Amino acid sequence: MRSTLSDRDPGSPGAGPAFAADEPVRATTAHRQRWAVETMAVAPDDQVLEIGCGRGAAVSLVASRLTTGRIVAIDRAATMVRLATQRNLNHVSAGRAEIRCAGFESADLPANRFTKIFAVNVSLFWLGDAAQQIARMRSLLAPGGRLYVFGERPTAAHATANLTTTRLLLESHGFDTTTSSATRGQRQVLTCVTGTAVE
Ligand SMILES: C[S@@+](CC[C@H](N)C(=O)[O-])C[C@H]1O[C@@H](n2cnc3c(N)ncnc32)[C@H](O)[C@@H]1O
Repeated sequence: MRSTLSDRDPGSPGAGPAFAADEPVRATTAHRQRWAVETMAVAPDDQVLEIGCGRGAAVSLVASRLTTGRIVAIDRAATMVRLATQRNLNHVSAGRAEIRCAGFESADLPANRFTKIFAVNVSLFWLGDAAQQIARMRSLLAPGGRLYVFGERPTAAHATANLTTTRLLLESHGFDTTTSSATRGQRQVLTCVTGTAVE
């Protein structure tokens, strides 16, 4: 396990722009989504899966970086899928984004496809069968692909607890992990556990 602490605010002196000036980042895009997409360093040819896309803010940020790549985003709430689709009509029309109403557990998704799978603020492992969820993520990842579990916590103590629990869970199911965190805005500690499947 490797750990890094990133405290670079995109707006802080010397940090440099986290995103291109012409990128259509909406005012309602939260720090957590921008940090998530920055952390994943999405490449133009990535095949990305987002679980629990909500209103689709991260979908917009990811799709803006894709050329030959594609993002599939799922959410089990029909209202969220409608909002996310409206927000990303340009990316959906261009074939860069597909947004579906589905629960992760039963979604029809291709095996060994995704170079990056991520979720932001989704209770993926704590409400259902974590072993089954993690095995499914592993089966969907392309060789060398990465899993990113992002969270947002009110205090550093909550963040540390969440990072530790998620890291240990992934490691116990055959992933190598790294962790990172960042402070953004007021009282926001963002966390990420990145997992790479051990061959
Ligand atoms: C707290 S919201 C976060 C939304 C978005 N990721 C964000 O950061 O704003 C969690 C979302 O995940 C969805 N969700 C939760 N569990 C899910 C699952 N197992 N499969 C698909 N979507 C799920 C919920 O419907 C909800 O829209």
